[in-house]
Amino acid sequence: MNIFITGGTGYIGSKLSKRLIGEGHNVAILKREASDLNNLSEFKDQITFYNYEGDFSSMNAAVEDFKPDLGIHLASLYVYSHSAEDIDALIDSNLRLGLHLTEALVKNGCKKLVNTGTSFEHFKNDDYNPVNLYAATKNAFSALLKYYTKSAQLSALTIKLFDTYGPDDNRGKLVSYLIGALSSGEEVQLSGGDQIVDYAHVDDVVNAYLKAIELLMNLDAGYYSEFGGVTGERVTLKQLVALIEEVSGKKLKVQFGAKPYRFREVMKPWSNFWELPDLPPKKSLKEGLKELIDEGN
Ligand SMILES: NC(=O)c1ccc[n+]([C@@H]2O[C@H](COP(=O)([O-])OP(=O)(O)OC[C@H]3O[C@@H](n4cnc5c(N)ncnc54)[C@H](OP(=O)(O)O)[C@@H]3O)[C@@H](O)[C@H]2O)c1
Repeated sequence: MNIFITGGTGYIGSKLSKRLIGEGHNVAILKREASDLNNLSEFKDQITFYNYEGDFSSMNAAVEDFKPDLGIHLASLYVYSHSAEDIDALIDSNLRLGLHLTEALVKNGCKKLVNTGTSFEHFKNDDYNPVNLYAATKNAFSALLKYYTKSAQLSALTIKLFDTYGPDDNRGKLVSYLIGALSSGEEVQLSGGDQIVDYAHVDDVVNAYLKAIELLMNLDAGYYSEFGGVTGERVTLKQLVALIEEVSGKKLKVQFGAKPYRFREVMKPWSNFWELPDLPPKKSLKEGLKELIDEGN
């Protein structure tokens, strides 16, 4: 299949692209002029790249040329606590880009789209209660996407991801930071640590996208559904630190309570969602952490 990916240069997008290429698909990535291609360095000669210039015409030219059978939308700007200066960039990345993509797919006869949301759309397990403006923009895009599935020959699924971790992660996420601190001996200042966290291994996340693609290919036009994306094992932040210490046999210099909990901190992740059906067995948190520590990630 021809698969057209936004955010394919990112952490999840690059792992997914590699897997799709391995399974024999043709992959095109829509990127920005200055996008960092480091995550793709090993296999970038097997990808078709198109540049998005923030307008419909660059998006449409890319889609028209590549003729995708399916789109995967992963590009997004993440800002936990926004300021007024972030509003335009959040709209550009999380709404405008997605609308340009959906419009171009529909215009060029592509009938399938896998979209990416966030568990942060469901603070306190509410149907609508975004943790922050980032999550609110992701939620707003899903609502707009639903319009296209009602009005055009499009079917779409949204996978709402929880936190993710895995090898070669350069996103500055907590798991990589903690594992780095094992060898640097750096003191790590954290909040109270009683919040429950949910880290899914990136290989399990990639499996979920493959499952979503399989599902979507069998769905009629007009279908839209949302799934909670690949929950990992739920532990408190304190338990996560203890598990890293247990697996590595080393002590971390962690100060719990050195920082306040964030505004609208998620103390219990979203739980009343549908999981994608028939996912392959997931990697245990212990096993995933052990691999990272053994490989020196
Ligand atoms: N990671 C998690 O734990 C988590 C949790 C919930 C949801 N998600 C969602 O999962 C998706 C992938 O996340 P990831 O962890 O792989 O993130 P990532 O490594 O930061 O990749 C995101 C990609 O989005 C594009 N992007 C970033 N800022 C942008 C902007 N201002 N305008 C347009 N594009 C922009 C970039 O690609 P280009 O430079 O090529 O444009 C970037 O490579 C995102 O939709 C994210 O919201 C992730």
